Amino acid sequence: MQKKILVTGGAGYIGSHTVVELQNSGYEVVIIDDFSNSLPDSLKGIESITGKKPFFEQLDLCDAAGLKLFFNKHKNIAGCIHFAASKAVGESVNKPLHYYRNNLNSLMNLMECMIANGVEPLVFSSSCTVYGQPEKLPVTEDAPILKALAPYGNTKQICEEIIQDTITSGVKVKAIALRYFNPIGAHPSAKIGELPQGIPNNLVPYITQTAFGVRKELSVYGNDYNTPDGSCIRDYIHVVDLAKAHVIAISRLINGINKKPYEIFNLGTGNGYSVFEVIKAFEKASGKPLPHKVVPRREGDIEKIYADTKFANEELGWKAQLGIDDMMAHAWAWEQYYRKATHA
Ligand code: UFG
Repeated sequence: MQKKILVTGGAGYIGSHTVVELQNSGYEVVIIDDFSNSLPDSLKGIESITGKKPFFEQLDLCDAAGLKLFFNKHKNIAGCIHFAASKAVGESVNKPLHYYRNNLNSLMNLMECMIANGVEPLVFSSSCTVYGQPEKLPVTEDAPILKALAPYGNTKQICEEIIQDTITSGVKVKAIALRYFNPIGAHPSAKIGELPQGIPNNLVPYITQTAFGVRKELSVYGNDYNTPDGSCIRDYIHVVDLAKAHVIAISRLINGINKKPYEIFNLGTGNGYSVFEVIKAFEKASGKPLPHKVVPRREGDIEKIYADTKFANEELGWKAQLGIDDMMAHAWAWEQYYRKATHA
C-alpha cells in the first residue's frame, strides 16, 4: 500500500516541487494549504506533471479544531513535511505578531495532532538564516546559532527549539530540520515555480520579472562588500534538488534509519555565487542583457554564506545535481510560461 504523507504548504513554492517528487517516488500525498501565499494553479501544475491529483484541503494550520478534524479524517498518515509558514523577512519586521502567531502556532498545532494520532516522522523547513553571518565558511550544521536579525529568522530558530524540546520530553516524534540555503529555479517542465505576490523581495524572481519587462531594472544591493566583485555571496540551490532531499529525509524517518530522533542538515550546493555572477548566468541562459544598477546595501543582508554539504551528502546520500545554469534556465522558462498562461 502507498504510504500517505501530509504536506503542509504543499501549494507553495518548495512544497509543490516536493509533492511532485513524493508522488514520483510512490508516496500518496495529502496537502493542507490556506493559499495565503500560493494559488490553486500550482495544484493543477502538480497534476499535469505527475498525472496524479493530490488530495487537497484548504485550511489554516492555526485553526486547531479544523486540523484535528483533518487528522480524524486521515487516520493513516505515515509522516508530515511542514512547509506552511510566512516567509518574507522584511514583512516580518513590520508584522512580528503575525509571524510569531502564524509560524509558531501552526507548528505546535501540527505536532499536537501528530502526537495525538501516533504520527512520528516530521520534516521541518528551516533556513540557513539561523547562522547569521558565520565566522567560518563553508558553514557546518554545528556552527553557532546567532541572534536573528528579523522576526522571520527568529521563528525558524524557535521552531527548531520547539521540535528539539518536544522530542527531549520523551514523546514519540522524530524529526529532521532541513536548513535551506537559497532555493531558486523551477520545475524543468515550467508547470510549477515560484509565485511571489507583489514586488519580489528575492533576487531571482526580481531578475526574471525584469527580463520579462514587468520591472524596469534590478537593483543590486551594494558593491562594496568584502567579496571578489563587491556583491553578496549566497549558496543558490535548485528547488528540485531541494525537493528530492525532502523525499529522502521523510523516507529516512519512516524507515527508521535516522541516527538520532532529531537531526539537522544543511541543504545547499556548497558553491557561493555573487549577485553579479547570478546576473551573468541569467544573461547567458536567457540570451539577453539584464538591466541593473547598483544601489546602497539592503539592511540586514549578510555578506557571504555557503554550505558545508558533507553531512547531508554522506548521511542522506544526497547531493545537489543541478547547477546555476539550470537554475537560471528553469526560472526563466517558468516566468515566461506563467506570464503567457495568465496574460499577467
Ligand atoms: N538582492 C539584490 N537585489 C534584489 C534582491 C536581492 O541585489 O532585488 C541580493 C541580496 O542583497 C542578496 C542576494 O541578492 O545579496 C540574495 O537575496 P535574496 O533576497 O534572494 O535572499 P536572501 O539571502 O536575502 O534571503 C533568503 C531567503 C530567506 C532566508 C535567507 C537565509 O529569502 O527566507 O535566504 O539567508 F531566510
